[in-house]
Amino acid sequence: MSKRFRVGSVIVAILFLSLAVVGQQKERSGSRGGGSIGGKGYREAAGYVVKRLGLRRNSVVVDIGAGDGWWSSKIAEKLGPKGVIHAGEVDQKKVDTIKEKWEAVPQIKPYLCPTDGTGLKENSCDLAFISKTYHHFDKDTHVDYLRHLKKVVKPSGRVVIIERHADLASGRGKKHAWQPGLLGQQAEQAGWMLLRCELIPGSDHFMATLVKPEAFAEKLSRRLTRRAQKVI
Ligand SMILES: C[S@@+](CC[C@H](N)C(=O)[O-])C[C@H]1O[C@@H](n2cnc3c(N)ncnc32)[C@H](O)[C@@H]1O
Repeated sequence: MSKRFRVGSVIVAILFLSLAVVGQQKERSGSRGGGSIGGKGYREAAGYVVKRLGLRRNSVVVDIGAGDGWWSSKIAEKLGPKGVIHAGEVDQKKVDTIKEKWEAVPQIKPYLCPTDGTGLKENSCDLAFISKTYHHFDKDTHVDYLRHLKKVVKPSGRVVIIERHADLASGRGKKHAWQPGLLGQQAEQAGWMLLRCELIPGSDHFMATLVKPEAFAEKLSRRLTRRAQKVI
């Protein structure tokens, strides 16, 4: 084998290996959520998301699967000093992390929650916020969980669910994603109305807002009556 041929073979092998490593890294970053399409993109749009939550100052929120409490901290800014965010986690280590990390934000109340519910009282929350946790709920328990939230959330309250859109996920990322259509069906089965479902700008995550149809219909009818009275 000539020296030139051997050098050429080595270069080709190095190029091949580099491409394989880059491919693997791309795949991993997509599934972990580090890529620009979605990765942490949904966090970069936090201002947009928090605005769309429709929160008032002093509201009570439950952040289900709060993780490191990052979303709880963003929501706390909106609620003001008298608001409350129950930051629920099934992992004690994460509860401890939230306590430590957000010690200076007293509105955040970290707690160990059960896997099949919030453990909170009926009619106690204005919003149930579930970011990238819905797909973690035990198989075939999603409708029951949403039924539970119907009790915990006040009549005029909402549920907001953020998940990676299953059609936009690839590789292992598919396991950490959800179909908006399926969520809509499950919400309806549990007695919620899907008010809106939208892609979060700049990410491959969607945000679904659920309301109680009875309370929403009443509010809408009052608003329409007021408008009609103004016209007359
Ligand atoms: C992917 S992380 C999302 C963290 C955070 N919400 C976010 O968007 O960055 C999912 C979290 O949900 C928690 N989790 C899983 N199942 C849960 C359940 N049934 N109830 C509450 N938390 C749960 C996990 O411990 C984990 O911290």
